[in-house]
Amino acid sequence: MTADPAASQAPAPVDIRQSGAPSRAVPPLVVDSVTKTYATRGRRRNTVTAVDDVSFTIAPGAAMALVGASGSGKSTLAKMITGSERPSRGSIRFGDTAVERLRAGGLREYHRRVQMVFQDPYGALNPLHTVEYTVSRPCQNFLGLSAAKAHDRVDELLETVGLTPPDQFAAKLPHQLSGGQRQRVVIARALACEPDLIVADEPVSMLDVSMRAGILRLLAKLREERGLSLLYITHDLLGARVVTDEILVLNHGRVVERGQTKHVLQHPEDDYTIKLLDAVATPYAAQESPPAR
Ligand SMILES: Nc1ncnc2c1ncn2[C@@H]1O[C@H](COP(=O)(O)OP(=O)(O)OP(=O)(O)O)[C@@H](O)[C@H]1O
Ligand SMILES: [Mg+2]
Repeated sequence: MTADPAASQAPAPVDIRQSGAPSRAVPPLVVDSVTKTYATRGRRRNTVTAVDDVSFTIAPGAAMALVGASGSGKSTLAKMITGSERPSRGSIRFGDTAVERLRAGGLREYHRRVQMVFQDPYGALNPLHTVEYTVSRPCQNFLGLSAAKAHDRVDELLETVGLTPPDQFAAKLPHQLSGGQRQRVVIARALACEPDLIVADEPVSMLDVSMRAGILRLLAKLREERGLSLLYITHDLLGARVVTDEILVLNHGRVVERGQTKHVLQHPEDDYTIKLLDAVATPYAAQESPPAR
């Protein structure tokens, strides 16, 4: 993450081949002075500022954590980055693409490149669709693979996300899977689109604690092996350490702290970050050295 205003100094797209990862050019994501206000209902016409003048850059292949308490604006930022909401002010660019200007075909291609993984894997999956159908559909729709090629690709993707052997999972419906397995299906479906950036909004908070570390390690592995960028949204600062190298702390829509994840966790400066750290009680805590405070 680069301290901003970053727009003018955005890093150029990197050819990931240089680092030995798959040959793809992933562009930087630049969030430049973004504000989002919503009109509130009621007799008085007030507004709520969900995101307030936020700037950051995710360099190609980097992983950034966005942390903050409930209502701090994390999901609103995610929605603007994925193009489902427009900023009230400021701009979001992914390489040459100005996200808020996208329409129809451009937005469709952007949705292929920027994939979202949601908090609730059950709600994110159609209960009537098998795993095979769920993962093969984007292979056919976005990548134009034939049904036979998509079938092979589903096997590969299920292996990648640890649902092995694939033929044991392909015919299953969501209710026949555990929460962690469902989230792996959601991740396989995201990967099917060959994305450049994954935005994961609290991807483990609804899972049993025993499954959380496995999903986080999977996200870390995918980022490393595929060279894709990751925005990991969470309340849990210690979980952020498993997958990210940079962290941005939001409070009431504003950035209150940013820096290298390990450094911020060990030497938090802002009172709000310190409070968030004090509130952490996760399974990772036992595996990680406690913050030096
Ligand atoms: N569509 C909307 N209309 C009005 N207010 C909204 C809307 N979406 C979000 N907000 C408000 O914006 C603020 C930020 O919400 P947001 O969902 O981004 O928080 P969050 O950090 O993701 O919280 P959580 O951790 O609970 O998911 C909140 O005060 C919320 O009530
Ligand atoms: Mg949220």
